Amino acid sequence: MSHFAHSPNQNLHAFAFSHLRAERSPLQQKPLVIWMTGISASGKSTIADALDIALQAQGRLTSIIDGDSVRGGLCRDLGFTDSDRDENIRRVAEVARLMLEAGLVVIVALISPSAASRHYARSIIGNEFFVEVHVDAPLETAEQRDPKGLYKKARAGLIKHFTGIDSAYDLPVFPEVHLDTQALSVEQSVETILDWVARRDDHP
Ligand code: ADX
Repeated sequence: MSHFAHSPNQNLHAFAFSHLRAERSPLQQKPLVIWMTGISASGKSTIADALDIALQAQGRLTSIIDGDSVRGGLCRDLGFTDSDRDENIRRVAEVARLMLEAGLVVIVALISPSAASRHYARSIIGNEFFVEVHVDAPLETAEQRDPKGLYKKARAGLIKHFTGIDSAYDLPVFPEVHLDTQALSVEQSVETILDWVARRDDHP
């Protein structure tokens, strides 16, 4: 857990802002962070995209934070060692929290392979605003899909620290939502998440 130590700067005093938007959204919607975890090619980005469209059709204001895109910008200085992944996840969780405080429904699609880093993300965002979605596909299936050819490269030794090959993925133990992407269509996966969101709206 050492990667997750809080800021060493003792001279910071966060101002206690009076208007905590996560609790009183001006957007008339309950903000939430939908944190999608799963190995590469499990379907996170595809489901995130379809979910985004479905949530917007319900009139919700949403935002997507996707691993492949943040790694070209916010996190472009980071690689795939365990500590770089932890920092990637920490930054995304902090940005998601800011968006949550602005009242959005935030969809995060990150491999986020370690249970400790996901736990840390949950603690940054707050348990009541965090829904962990395991986008599940067996490694063999993800490897067959291999839309970007990355598994092939990793097997050939051309990419190091590849999740599932020579870098671990901790299976989520109690995710709020589990999606078996071999059994469910993209639409069914989206419906499963929407059901969870609707139930949470009724019983926050
Ligand atoms: S995480 O582990 O830090 O959460 P993240 O979701 O941001 O990963 O990035 C994963 C994406 O980076 C994959 O979809 C893939 O396109 C690309 N990638 C490049 N190198 C690796 C690697 N060694 N392991 C996993 N994904 C990689």
